Amino acid sequence: MNVTETTNLIEVAVAGLPPHDQIKRKERLALLKACEQLKRAIETPFEATQKILFAPHQTAGVRIAVDVKLFDIFATAKETEFYSSELAGKNTVRWLRMFTGMGLLEERPNNKYKASALGLAFASSSPYANAAVFLGKIHEVLAKLPAYLKDTGYRNPVDAFDGPFQSVNATKDHYFTWLQANPEVQRAFNYTMGIPRLSFGEEQWFDFFPVEEKLLSGTSTDTVVLVDIGGGRGHDLREFRDKFHSASGRLILQDLPTVIDDITDQPAGIQLMKHDFFTVQPVKGARAYYLRTVLHDWPDNQARKILEMIRLAMSKDSILLLYEIVVPDAGHSLWAADMDINLMASLAALERTRKQWVDLLDSSGFELKAVWEPKNSALGSGSLLEAVPK
Ligand SMILES: C[S@@+](CC[C@H](N)C(=O)[O-])C[C@H]1O[C@@H](n2cnc3c(N)ncnc32)[C@H](O)[C@@H]1O
Repeated sequence: MNVTETTNLIEVAVAGLPPHDQIKRKERLALLKACEQLKRAIETPFEATQKILFAPHQTAGVRIAVDVKLFDIFATAKETEFYSSELAGKNTVRWLRMFTGMGLLEERPNNKYKASALGLAFASSSPYANAAVFLGKIHEVLAKLPAYLKDTGYRNPVDAFDGPFQSVNATKDHYFTWLQANPEVQRAFNYTMGIPRLSFGEEQWFDFFPVEEKLLSGTSTDTVVLVDIGGGRGHDLREFRDKFHSASGRLILQDLPTVIDDITDQPAGIQLMKHDFFTVQPVKGARAYYLRTVLHDWPDNQARKILEMIRLAMSKDSILLLYEIVVPDAGHSLWAADMDINLMASLAALERTRKQWVDLLDSSGFELKAVWEPKNSALGSGSLLEAVPK
């Protein structure tokens, strides 16, 4: 098949594709991979490097669109098209060209624009708008990361209180302490944590972990089934509660006061508890102590302290559940690599390989019993690590 025939074939295929949410997850992921290979095969170095080197410009544009609520106009208005002059407040007209190129806006005749589905993802009501605000602060650190690493001899940052974030912001505060003092970003952070649950067909850990056998058998109304430590707004416990609504036992959500106080919709059947996980765990003998993407926020020193506080509260039947990315030794995703650097910049922390998890658990008095995996893992997929005290 020659190149023109290939192009025609792709155009026909695109026209015939169902919407993404109507394609089977496995097939959709395979197609995405094939498209990525296709692009890599035909892009010139100029086209490929342009995308990489101009990504910060587009990130800045999106953040400005979120700040001036550009996409709210489309999300809330009855009309779907607006003249560029109607969108031109605060200089946004210069950004409209970029948003069109990025596929956030579609150009219509007579200087009109319409938001695409992707553009609407940056309306204020969307969690992705919150992600733009939360990540905006980390982008500031990333912009200065090359200079920071040059100055520090390219050493791996491992001090959560004296890393890139502190250097760039001239502070001694930990990132989470800084967040607490910056409510707009803290709130954006809390809502951003809900994005992985928009899993687009992905299984949650309690779909592939034997919950009945390991957590629910023989429980009474007094049994604490799950303590979700650093559980944010309780996304996971809410879904767990809905799936196992007829089970008896208690579900407890723990997080810092600023996060718990931000939960205005008291979730039925879930006890909210303000708790600093560096202090003595007040809930003793729960079936499971669960931490989702919490330990990846901390270098080994602090992660060991968090684990110690949990271990001291466990009974002989308690288990530890960690939902985290386990970076494979080969074939890791770009997402895992991006997240790893995100953690380096903001928290001097890291995504861990299986060996790093085993070592961390071992040096914290735990034995890794099993790693439970979803059937179709993809961007952002985690694994569930099950561990018990040694
Ligand atoms: C990356 S978020 C993960 C949130 C949630 N587990 C999830 O997966 O959506 C880390 C959480 O740890 C919480 N956290 C940070 N320091 C804490 C501390 N000292 N004690 C309790 N929670 C803390 C943060 O407030 C945040 O909700």
